[in-house]
Formats: sequence, structure tokens, C-alpha cells
Amino acid sequence: MTREDKTPPAGERVLIFDTTLRDGEQSPGVALGSGEKLEIARALERMKVDFIEAGFPASSPGDFESVVAIAKEVRGTVIAGLARAVAGDVDACWEAVKHAAQPRIHVFLSVSDIHILHQLEKDREQVLEMARTQVARAKKHCSDVEFSPMDATRSEPEYVFRMISECIEAGATTINIPDTVGYAIPEEFGEFLRQIQENVPNIHKALISVHCHNDLGLAVANSLAAIRAGARQVETCVNGIGERAGNASLEEVVMAIKTRGDLFGLSTNVDTTQIHRTSRLVSQLTGMSVQPNKAIVGANAFRHQSGIHQHGITKLRETYEIIDARDIGLSRGGMIVLNKNSGRHGLKARLDELGYEITSEEMDRVFLAFKELADKKGEIDDRDLDALVSEERRTVEEVYKLDLLQVSCGNQAMSTAKVRLIGPEGRETTTTSTGTGPVDASYRAINGLVGVPNQLIEYAVNAVTEGIDAQGEVTVRIESDGRTFVGRGADTDIVVASAKALINALNRLLAHSPQARDSEVWANP
Ligand code: KIV
Ligand code: ZN
Repeated sequence: MTREDKTPPAGERVLIFDTTLRDGEQSPGVALGSGEKLEIARALERMKVDFIEAGFPASSPGDFESVVAIAKEVRGTVIAGLARAVAGDVDACWEAVKHAAQPRIHVFLSVSDIHILHQLEKDREQVLEMARTQVARAKKHCSDVEFSPMDATRSEPEYVFRMISECIEAGATTINIPDTVGYAIPEEFGEFLRQIQENVPNIHKALISVHCHNDLGLAVANSLAAIRAGARQVETCVNGIGERAGNASLEEVVMAIKTRGDLFGLSTNVDTTQIHRTSRLVSQLTGMSVQPNKAIVGANAFRHQSGIHQHGITKLRETYEIIDARDIGLSRGGMIVLNKNSGRHGLKARLDELGYEITSEEMDRVFLAFKELADKKGEIDDRDLDALVSEERRTVEEVYKLDLLQVSCGNQAMSTAKVRLIGPEGRETTTTSTGTGPVDASYRAINGLVGVPNQLIEYAVNAVTEGIDAQGEVTVRIESDGRTFVGRGADTDIVVASAKALINALNRLLAHSPQARDSEVWANP
């Protein structure tokens, strides 16, 4: 296949149904707050996905409220909510999505015997009846109803055909075929899609969608095979996050359709220049780092190591690249670099180009932080700006702020950290702790001051850019009362970045459990 063989994509579209906020949030260890979900929803809207599955309203009051907030605020795309095939779920889902400009109810029910017998403890006829009844109930609320026969790829095809047909009869306008446990192989999955079209007499009344999991690393391949076989909606998550090994990655599906327009003859409505930025946002807010060699959005996706490749690229980009980095929103030919002489206007112009919409209050903080960073490290590139913006944008109330951190450490000394925090009502408290290293000592001091029991379950540090003066970006995960909270911090000093990350995670914990704010330390300073 050569570039000359490529023909522009034809008019027919594949709809992108993004489920980062629902299936993606089911990734182990991820718990997004309502403000964070709204921020991701806005980014998805900016990226022009066709559908945002905003949550599973019956699953918790918090999920319900987030779906309501997204439905009210994100008006440019269809907002879907998930519901089991039970009346309470369907009604709760409607109560949440009804605020949307374009609402959708997504009903699901298992169709494999293994689920029907062992999980639902019912028989096939009872399950058919539940599906029919609840799709019809959803239809009374909302004209746009999607139905998913869960675990379809491990089910008897005849039963799946019957289920689909009856759900279309009951009012479903989109039929989504989930490969719930990532069991399918692309050829076989494509064939299953063809069989559905041949054996379900009323299938022409519905749009066919697919939802593929990545247990065998085939979620994207299966989704693409399904598109070749006639599916016109694909369910995806940014960075491929989701239950277990995750879902089909949005950026991979979208860029495969775009890059191989010659083969698919299709297009999506996604503004691909938003991909990089949305990937960063999702990674920061979920605390799930993107592996460097991840297709499209990994740090190495557009880097060339071998001399032969570098030589080729300098002559003609296409020698070793099938995608132009600018198409996913990365600048090319070296990023634009700012320095301490850059003014507020220059910084604002670059942030605008990167797609950030920030308030003037946020801009004040970003500009101050930019000046401080530029003093320390000279040149500031787009990756530094991404880290700065996510640091200075408040997605969670800052009950505690780091005011001072001093550490002493070394191979022949006990590590000691002095920490001063600004806490509730602007009060300051200071303490000193020792530990096995400077991070341990700082964490003991911070935990002593905040006084909320928690356990550190993950700690990771990454350099934002190359070089000894790079900012370190620390991501932590803490657990408290069975819930996990992610925190992030960036600084040229990784002990400071570590302290900021823990404080960020604690602020998230406090946003979720405000009663934990009444720590004795702050009651009796
Ligand atoms: O994986 C799955 O089957 C699902 C359904 C709810 C669509 O997430
Ligand atoms: Zn799923």
C-alpha cells in the first residue's frame, strides 16, 4: 500500500460514542469527582465526539449528580446514561439525562448463558421479557434508546438475534454489540456482525454499534473489523482506559479511520487536533499514565531514535511517519519555546493555540507560576505548559495548601522534613517529621497535619521534559475507607512535587468526605 493509493474518505460517517466517563471510570483505582467529569466532558465536546456516556445514574447519588451536571452544561453533543434492564435504573437514568439538549438512555442486559444462569439466576425467556419491557419503558421517556446485549460474543447467536429483534421492536434505535470480556478475534467478530445483519429481520431500523474490551489486546482491531462489516457507531475510551485491560482507544480508532481512509472510505466528526490535549487531561485526572510506546498519544509515538529514520524524516516526514503530529494537536519542528522574557500576551497566545480556555483568574495564577518556572529552568515548552495549567487549574477545592517545605537528607543522615500548610480558614500549622527518605519524611509531616487516615498505594514520578532541570510530575494514589483518590503535583524539585501530589489527593478525599475536615490539629492549632 503506498500513499498514492489513498483516496479521500467518503461521506459516510462512523459515530464515536465515548464512554470514558462511564466504562473508563470503571478502571480499577479511578474515581473522578463531579468537577473533573465535567472538565473531561467539556474536552470531549470540544473534540466533537457524537455521544458522551456521562455515567450510570442509578449506581450512586454522586454518579446521578454528575450526569445531571453534564447534561445541563454540555449542550453540543448527545448525553447518554447507562441503565440495567430494571425499571428503577431506567427511570433514574431518564431523570438524569432529561436535562440534556439531546438525551439517550442506554439499556443493557446479559445474553450469555453463563451470565443468565450464574449472575442473573433467570432463564432466557425471563431475560427476553425484561429486555423488551425496559426498552419499551425507556422509549416512553426518550426517543433515543440504545440496547446492549451484554456478553454477546459468548452467547448463542440465535438467541442474540432474537433479543436484538425484540428490542428493536420495543423501540431501540441503536443496537450495541458488546465484546464484554474481550474474547472475540477480529475476523470472527466481523463475521458475527454480518450474521446479525443477515438474521435479524428488522435490523435496518437500528444503527449497529460495537463496544470492545481489550483483554486480548484486540479491542481496536475488533472495532475496526466491525466497521468493515457495517457497524456505524464505535464505543471508545480516551487512552483506552476501562474495566480490566480497558476499552477500544478513541484515538486509535479515530486515527485508523482517518489514516486509512483509502481502505475504510469513512470518516468521523472528531476534531483530531484535540486528541493530544484530551489524552493528557484524562491521564492527569484519572492518574492513569499513558505508556510511552502507546499508539498515537504515547510520548514516543512521534520520536525517532535510529539514525536512518532521523535522516529520512529530515528529508521527507512521510518516510517514517504515517500521521502528521499536528493532526493530533502536537506542534511540529520543535515545540514553540517561551522563556522568562515572554509576556502575558505571548503566554496567553500560546495557551490559546494549545486549545486551553482559561479564566482570567486562572491566567493570573498560570502567569505567576510560568514566571517562577522560567526563572528556574529557562526554556518552557508545551509540555511544561500542560503541566503548569493542570497544576494551576483548580478542579477540587484546596482545603490545604503547601506553604513551606524544607528537607534535609543524605546517605549518612536521618531524613527530616519541616512542613507548613495553610488549612481551613487560612490558618497555618507547622510540623517536623523524620522518615526513611525526604518524601517519606514529608508525607509523615503532611499526614500528621491533615490528620485523615489514609494509605499510600501508588507513587510514580515522571519527567515532564528532558534535561536535568525538567519538572518532575508526581502521581499518587491513596486509599481511605475503601475509596481511592488520585493526586498530582509538578515542580522542578521532585520532593516538592511529591508533597503537592499528596496534598492534592488529600483535598480530593476531603471533597468526597467533608466530615474528615474536622481534624483535631486544626480544631486546636
Ligand atoms: O462491556 C460491556 O458489556 C458494557 C456494557 C454495559 C455495554 O460495558
Ligand atoms: Zn464495557
